[in-house]
Amino acid sequence: MLNLKEKKLLFDKNGFIIFEKLLKSETAFVHFDQVKREIVREYDSNYIKIKKLGGFMTGNLDLKPSKEIIKIWEILKELKISEAIKKLTNKALDEYDIKFAGNVSLPNKGDQFFHTDGPKSARKILIGVPIEDLKEIDGPTELVPGSHHKRISYWKFHFEKFFKKKVKLILDKGDIFIRESYIWHKGTKNRSKKLRIIILFVLSEKNSNFVKQDILNTTKFGDNMFEISFKGKIREIMSVYLPFFYFLYKLLVSFIRK
Ligand SMILES: [Fe+2]
Repeated sequence: MLNLKEKKLLFDKNGFIIFEKLLKSETAFVHFDQVKREIVREYDSNYIKIKKLGGFMTGNLDLKPSKEIIKIWEILKELKISEAIKKLTNKALDEYDIKFAGNVSLPNKGDQFFHTDGPKSARKILIGVPIEDLKEIDGPTELVPGSHHKRISYWKFHFEKFFKKKVKLILDKGDIFIRESYIWHKGTKNRSKKLRIIILFVLSEKNSNFVKQDILNTTKFGDNMFEISFKGKIREIMSVYLPFFYFLYKLLVSFIRK
């Protein structure tokens, strides 16, 4: 794999890295199209059910994997993604449990608050594969480079972020990104008319609590960020309809807990 030494330096510094045109084969594109077909079909035929999921109001949902997503992982392995992971993270691929997932941003929605995916203490690495070109209009992920280095509270992050550079992951079909889960990031609003789909492979250091996933016949939607519980719904309603107060509430809670 290309200039891994250089990529490693950038990955350590910024907490993310892009591999351009890595998944550019005809076979990879066939699987991308198939995954897209599965997701669009699922969205159209189970819309009433999907509307009830946590994250629907925000417009950001998880994906539960089908065999097609596993096939994309197989291609990445053939391309020696293991070498990149070993070099970038100092751990071999077989030292990680792998969760097959994805993220969908719904049309005209998907703007999130900045957050990290889990605590800094539990390091996870995310490999992201957009199945189509991912432009500004599609609601790319926005990251704060270097924000994975130290643990920082919510209020402090928001104070500091005004002075920090932010980067949007604008990608072409075939590009992949690798990022630390602890980096501060958010989904931006999907202003296009189509679903914005990113396949994710989440690597977490092996532990006995890892639950093996069911691989489905077709890709399905799941909750993201918010639970389906009453409490989860209230939080999501607040975040969507009273975002300023929700933001203040989160700031206050993190300030009190500091
Ligand atoms: Fe996230």
